Amino acid sequence: MKDRLKIMNIVGARPNLPKIAPLIREMKRHPKIEPILVHTGQHYADELNGIFFREMGIPAPHVNLEVGSASHAVQTGEILKRVEPLLIEQRPDLVLVVGDVNSTIAVSLAAAKLGIRVAHIEAGLRSFDRSMPEEINRILTDALAQYLFVTEQDAIENLEREGRPRESIFFVGNVMIDSIYNFLPLARKSRIGEELGLARGQTWCDFAVLTLHRPSNVDSTDKLRQLLSAIDTIAEQLPVIFPVHPRTEKQLVQAGVVKHSSVKLIQPLGYLDFLCLLSRARVVLTDSGGIQEETTALGVPCLTLRENTERPVTITQGTNLLVGTDPARIVRAARDVLACKEKVGHIPPLWDGHAAERIVNTLCSVVPISRTMAA
Ligand code: UD1
Repeated sequence: MKDRLKIMNIVGARPNLPKIAPLIREMKRHPKIEPILVHTGQHYADELNGIFFREMGIPAPHVNLEVGSASHAVQTGEILKRVEPLLIEQRPDLVLVVGDVNSTIAVSLAAAKLGIRVAHIEAGLRSFDRSMPEEINRILTDALAQYLFVTEQDAIENLEREGRPRESIFFVGNVMIDSIYNFLPLARKSRIGEELGLARGQTWCDFAVLTLHRPSNVDSTDKLRQLLSAIDTIAEQLPVIFPVHPRTEKQLVQAGVVKHSSVKLIQPLGYLDFLCLLSRARVVLTDSGGIQEETTALGVPCLTLRENTERPVTITQGTNLLVGTDPARIVRAARDVLACKEKVGHIPPLWDGHAAERIVNTLCSVVPISRTMAA
């Protein structure tokens, strides 16, 4: 007879890693939980994957399914095919998925079809824009999961509207913010400021950070060129550090180079260097989901280069402003920040560094342990 809850934790892409790190740490401390970690291999490059494991002390995955890059259907299908035998062999009591990437939905679907319970961390977020692949992944994962852990109040309303029972929804805070609080002291020791010529000792100059990787922004060269023209104008006022995602890098070659010498294109950064830059930036421009939340937690102004967000609390309570993709509007918003007319935010409820603890305690009390021996 088993007496421990066997939880299969799933990661696949870069943004999953700061979310899983505090959960695995907490599970390993808990005598009633046997955690295993499975990597789908959706991201495989060291700068998007390995460096995060090393820096955040995430244990090596038990299995890597090595699916690699492909179209959505092929990637999702490969994960389904490769994870099913593993689920049958391991027979976990629970599969835990985070976020909204293809790995999240694919493993949830395979588990649900085998009658294995699913917990979704970061449930209920909705951009109401189904042209985003992540929105489809979010809706479907939430429809399959029995345990829905949410980061903000709007998510509860979204899930209830979709008919999910209130007793399956748990408002626990934000595990990615657990990682920020845990790693910020170490990140502040990073030498990235000196390396990029932004800092001398503890003195930093004003600079902006830019990230762009949403298909809607970077897959069209016209759109990308338009966004970069705004960035060129902003770079007349302060240096812009631009760690370039592989998806964007391919397109940049076609879109032509950024003209202003103050736009510094660099390789994707590891977690600690990037967190250091975020925490010191005068302003952040991004189309990422997670960075909207990280800047809110850090109290740094964020201009989101999208028409919508699935994380409305970063707007209503945090430092985030949706500025869309019109170059004139982006430049105006950046100038406002630089003229100290920025939005002052506060930290949303329960974004206090203890979300993983709450999730693990909840799982221990609500998930039944199957009384058969695991295979
Ligand atoms: C994926 C997620 C997105 C997340 C982003 C973070 C989905 C649908 N999208 O988007 O939600 O915000 O990760 O980075 O799950 N590539 C490499 N090395 C790698 C992985 C990918 O060079 O390790 C290149 C490949 O050429 C690939 C392209 O990047 O075709 C895009 O990768 P993919 O995983 O398909 O989507 P992302 O844009 O990274």
